[in-house]
Amino acid sequence: MKAKDLYSPRPKYMAKSGCSFILVELLLLQCLSHLTISFGQGYDFFYFVQQWPGSYCDTKKSCCYPTTGKPPANFTIHGLWPNYNNGSYPSNCNADSPYNATKISDLLGKMEVDWPTLACPTNDGTRFWTHEWEKHGTCSETVLDQHSYFEAALNIKNKVNILKVLEDAGIKPDDTFYKERQIREAIKAGIGYTPAITCNTDPTKNRQLSEIYLCVDASGKDLIECPKFPNRCKRPPLQFPIF
Ligand SMILES: *[C@@H]1O[C@H](CO)[C@@H](O)[C@H](O)[C@H]1NC(C)=O
Ligand SMILES: *[C@@H]1O[C@H](CO)[C@@H](O)[C@H](O)[C@H]1NC(C)=O
Ligand SMILES: *[C@@H]1O[C@H](CO)[C@@H](O)[C@H](O)[C@H]1NC(C)=O
Repeated sequence: MKAKDLYSPRPKYMAKSGCSFILVELLLLQCLSHLTISFGQGYDFFYFVQQWPGSYCDTKKSCCYPTTGKPPANFTIHGLWPNYNNGSYPSNCNADSPYNATKISDLLGKMEVDWPTLACPTNDGTRFWTHEWEKHGTCSETVLDQHSYFEAALNIKNKVNILKVLEDAGIKPDDTFYKERQIREAIKAGIGYTPAITCNTDPTKNRQLSEIYLCVDASGKDLIECPKFPNRCKRPPLQFPIF
């Protein structure tokens, strides 16, 4: 009753106090939505991580092509990982939210191309996507539901053609060695954001370009400069293996 009274038409002499009431209310709302932005979502930004399949397979452990066939010779998605500005990250945030292929049935065809599994034994990708959703995706569920989460990752991938950017800079997957700095600067010049490059080791102990990290804002839409970089691989030069 009291609240209704405040909103009802009032004599002119009361206009001023009514106005300040609305101001207080607006400030309160603004404050509450700010709280939601800074604490409610439970993370600060995303790492968008792409892997080079040639480097995944050229290891002691080797790899298995998925049941859907050999993936394209292209960077493919490893994951979209909620992260904190301090470098640590939340994981396995909601056991009551299992991976559910029915929810993303319209995306599965794209996922087979852009987010294929290379893990053994050969499988259709369900295990990989289950792991990515349950470990990482559930931690951004306040912002992106399951369908939006997988769709966000696919959309970012299609915004940045890393392979083309590198090839245009003369960096090709032909077993040649390149300096980490050369790879990083080519990507920065091509897409406008600084990546982090990580490496792994092939069976003959060569270091090779393994994954490329980019950062995405908490909405999952736009690339940003990374608030924090993972450990990058600096020396020696990295092999970019054939796939
Ligand atoms: C990093 O930040 C998160 C969220 O603010 C916090 O929960 C976590 O304890 C912090 N971790 C470290 C190592 O400071
Ligand atoms: C998977 O999602 C569909 C569509 O939202 C729903 O009908 C079904 O109950 C879910 N399955 C499980 C096991 O949660
Ligand atoms: C590689 O992936 C990008 C999207 O990131 C796509 O635009 C491009 O066509 C793909 N290239 C090949 C050779 O599959």
